[in-house]
Amino acid sequence: MTREPIDELLHELDRTLADGQRNAQVTAALERYARSGATDWRTFALFEADYYARNLVRQSDLFELIVLCWGVGHRSPIHDHQGQRCWMGVLQGDVTETLYQVGAAPQAAVRGGAARTFRQGQVAYIVDEMGWHRIEPAGGKPAITMHLYSRPIRTCSVVDEQTGVITTRKMRYHSIGGVVQAQPST
Ligand code: SIN
Repeated sequence: MTREPIDELLHELDRTLADGQRNAQVTAALERYARSGATDWRTFALFEADYYARNLVRQSDLFELIVLCWGVGHRSPIHDHQGQRCWMGVLQGDVTETLYQVGAAPQAAVRGGAARTFRQGQVAYIVDEMGWHRIEPAGGKPAITMHLYSRPIRTCSVVDEQTGVITTRKMRYHSIGGVVQAQPST
C-alpha cells in the first residue's frame, strides 16, 4: 500500500530522530516534503480568527509535528524553545523570523531584531543558543508553516519586548489530527 506523503515524512522522522542528532537529515526531509507539491497537509491547515492556529499532526516522545496557520496581522510572541530543536518549513506564503537575544529575568534586556524572510519550500532552524524568535506572515498575505520540535514542547518562555518581563506560556493546539478541539488542548 502506498503511503501519503505526510505519512512518508512521519516515517522518516521516526527513523531519523531515533538515531540521534542528525539535524541535516531532518532539514532535508522537511525540505523535500515542503517542495514536493504534496497537499495532504491541508487536512491540518485550520485557521483561527484572532490568533495564529497550532494544529497537531502527530506527537511522540521524540518529536511533535505541527501545522501553523498565520492570518494577516497574527504573530507569535518573542519566545524560546526550552532547550529543544525547532525546524520551520514554509508550506504556503512567506514568513518573517526575527531573532532576539534575551537577558536574565526579572527585567530582561531584549536586543536584536535581525529579520529573515523564508519562502515556500524553505526550512529554518533554531535552538536557544541562537536566540529567541518571533514569527509572522510577510507580504500582507496569510501563510502556513510546518514546525517540528524535538522533543515536544509543553511550555515556552515569552518576553515582553517593552518591559523585559518573562512569563511562561502553555502551548495549546487548535486541532489534533485535523479535528478542532472544543477546549484548546495542550
Ligand atoms: C509556536 O510553536 O507556537 C511558535 C512557532 C515557533 O517557535 O517556531
